[in-house]
Amino acid sequence: MNFKNYLLLAALGLTISSCAGEKKTDTIKIGEYASLTGPTASFGQNSHNGILLAIEEINAAGGVLGKQIELISEDDQSKPEEGATVVNKLIHRDGVVAILGEVASSISLAGAPICQEAKIPMLSSGSTNPKVTKVGDFIFRTCFIDPFQGKVLAKFVADSLKLKKVAILRDIKNDYSVGLADFFAENFKQLGGEIIADQVYSAQDKDFKAQLTALKEIGMEGICVPGYYNEVSLIARQARELGINVPLFGGDGWSSPKLLEVAGNSLEGAFYVEHFSHKDPNPVVQDFVKKYKAKYNSEPDGMSALGYDSAKLMADAMTRAGSTEGEKVRDALAQTQGFQGVTGTVNIDAERNASKSAVILQIRNGEHEFFATVNPN
Ligand code: PHE
Repeated sequence: MNFKNYLLLAALGLTISSCAGEKKTDTIKIGEYASLTGPTASFGQNSHNGILLAIEEINAAGGVLGKQIELISEDDQSKPEEGATVVNKLIHRDGVVAILGEVASSISLAGAPICQEAKIPMLSSGSTNPKVTKVGDFIFRTCFIDPFQGKVLAKFVADSLKLKKVAILRDIKNDYSVGLADFFAENFKQLGGEIIADQVYSAQDKDFKAQLTALKEIGMEGICVPGYYNEVSLIARQARELGINVPLFGGDGWSSPKLLEVAGNSLEGAFYVEHFSHKDPNPVVQDFVKKYKAKYNSEPDGMSALGYDSAKLMADAMTRAGSTEGEKVRDALAQTQGFQGVTGTVNIDAERNASKSAVILQIRNGEHEFFATVNPN
């Protein structure tokens, strides 16, 4: 090789390596793990849609710290084990600097220890079980927690529905469902109510007739069903088929367009606690609804809104940190106060949870109608 060619190659080599070097840093890689397929696919798909919309807006406005955000999404198939696998991949193979997800508490509980160990900040959009953020100081959430949600539900059932004797039907394979059932029961009893039966099922069950038959003649005035939409919709149908006509009520796990596709009119009049209502007249909410509908041609649900807020909050924390370094982003997330999201104003407390309002929705004429907003305290 003559000297001229060598120089050329060296120059090329330099160019290639500087390209590769730049590539490493010219975007901010954020990972997302979500149930894009599997039994709770609508949680993952809708939060993913919200995240994508937010990142599109952030990038169009110039990105974060002068760089574009690159979202790397992984499907955990609605399974905790798979959640752990993809979080490992995102951190150790893709080199993400932060993680968004998961929605389901049981899956967040599988991914959080890996983020904590690697000192990569994780921001869960929808996991409301208190154990999630207790994993460690790198684990945050954009949503309220179940002690609050359980209290909101219990107060509503006792004060507005004026029920005194209720039954619980909980999913014992689901950390969220078990926790919310307990927080509801504790608060309902404090308000003078009585839990006259506590029945269980397991996620993926399809037949709830045995539990419902056991509940049928005990004189309950309502059934608390703090589970996910896929089982809740079947429970509602089967309850009506068995002639059980008392009201059913639950929590944010009901949040899915799929709920009524399966439940039909068997949930007519039912109430549940949510993070957001697309019918909230607040201009911040309506602006988001308009943008979401334009992009996806469907209404956003609580998950879509939480996904959107999570991505915006993460970007905001990186901007405030002036860095994407794990410990600095952690500190900025911890200091979040008065962050204006479409799901309300987020204040991160000392336990890394968001203290914020909840909404109560009622199913009327096949629509998820806004009923009330409940503020913390
Ligand atoms: N709160 C649920 C959980 O912790 C997840 C969820 C959030 C579902 C928001 C729907 C809407 O598992």
